[in-house]
Amino acid sequence: MTPTVPLGDGGALPAIGLGTVEAEGEDMSATVTSALDAGYRLIDTALSYGTEGGVGRAVAASSIAREDIVITTKIPGRFHGYDEAKESARTSLTALGVDRIDLLLIHWPLPKVDKYVDTWRAMIELQKDGLVGSIGVSNFTAAHLDRLEAETGTVPAVNQIELHPYFPQAELRRYHAEHGIVTESWSPLGRGSELLHAAPIVAAATAHDVSPGQVVLRWHVQLGAVPLPKSSNPDRQRQNLDVFGFELTDAEVAAISGLERGRIWDQDPDTYEEF
Ligand SMILES: NC(=O)c1ccc[n+]([C@@H]2O[C@H](COP(=O)([O-])OP(=O)(O)OC[C@H]3O[C@@H](n4cnc5c(N)ncnc54)[C@H](OP(=O)(O)O)[C@@H]3O)[C@@H](O)[C@H]2O)c1
Repeated sequence: MTPTVPLGDGGALPAIGLGTVEAEGEDMSATVTSALDAGYRLIDTALSYGTEGGVGRAVAASSIAREDIVITTKIPGRFHGYDEAKESARTSLTALGVDRIDLLLIHWPLPKVDKYVDTWRAMIELQKDGLVGSIGVSNFTAAHLDRLEAETGTVPAVNQIELHPYFPQAELRRYHAEHGIVTESWSPLGRGSELLHAAPIVAAATAHDVSPGQVVLRWHVQLGAVPLPKSSNPDRQRQNLDVFGFELTDAEVAAISGLERGRIWDQDPDTYEEF
C-alpha cells in the first residue's frame, strides 16, 4: 500500500496521486479505473479539466470503498467569490456524482481579480458543513498564503504547485514546512519533456535499476512533496506508484535538484490568469 502524508487538519493524503489532465481522445474513466486497480487512492481533477465525470464514473464503478479514495477537485477563476465558490463546489459534486469532495483547492490565486480571500471564506464553510473534507489552494505564493492566514486564521492544508527538477521551489517548500502545509507537485515529470533524459536522472535510474520516471517521483517523495503524475498507460501507472523500494542518496537528490532552470510553463501565479 502507498504510504500516507499527514495533513495539518488531521486528515492524510496518499504519498502519490494520479493527475487527470486528459490527452486528446482519452477516456478518463478507463484511465482512472486502471489507476485504481494499480493502487492509486488519490485522484486529482479540476472543474476546468472536464474530467470530473470520468473520475466519478470510475470511482462509482470500482469495488474500492468510497472512503478509501481521496478525490481532489479545484475552483476555477470564473467561480472566484463567496457565492460563486459554493456554486463551483455544488457543480463539482454533481459532475463527480459524490456527496463529498475530499480535497477542494482554489485553482489559481488571480491576484488582479482579488477575490481569493472571499473564495476561501466560502470553502471554510463548505468544510464545516461537511460537503468538503479538506481545503487547500494551488499556485499560491507565500504572500498569498500569508494573506489567507492573516484575514481568515485558516491555513490551507495543501498548496499544489508546479514542481519538478527544473523548478524545485526550495523557498516555497520551506515556507510550506514552516506553516504545516503539504506540498503537492503538478507536472511532476515535466509533462513528457526532455527532463527524463537528463544525465543525473539517467545515472540514478541505472544505479537503482529503475526507470527515469521512478527516479523523479522518488526525488519528489524524498523532498516531502506529493507528486501527481498523469499516465493513461497501465504499466507506467504501476511503475509510477512503485517508488518505495529504493532510496536516492543525498548526492543524487542534490544532483537532480541541480537541474534547476525555472518554470516549464511560464505561468507566474502573480500574473497568470485561468478562468
Ligand atoms: N494545479 C494546476 O494548476 C495544475 C497544472 C497542471 C497540471 N496539474 C495536475 O498535475 C497532473 C500532472 O501534470 P501533467 O499532466 O502536466 O504532467 P506529468 O504528470 O509531469 O507528465 C505526464 C506525461 O508524462 C508521461 N508519463 C507518465 N509517466 C511516465 C513515465 N514513468 N515515464 C515516461 N513518461 C511518463 C505521460 O504519458 P502517458 O499518459 O502516455 O504515460 C504524459 O504524457 C495533471 O494531470 C493535473 O492533475 C495541475
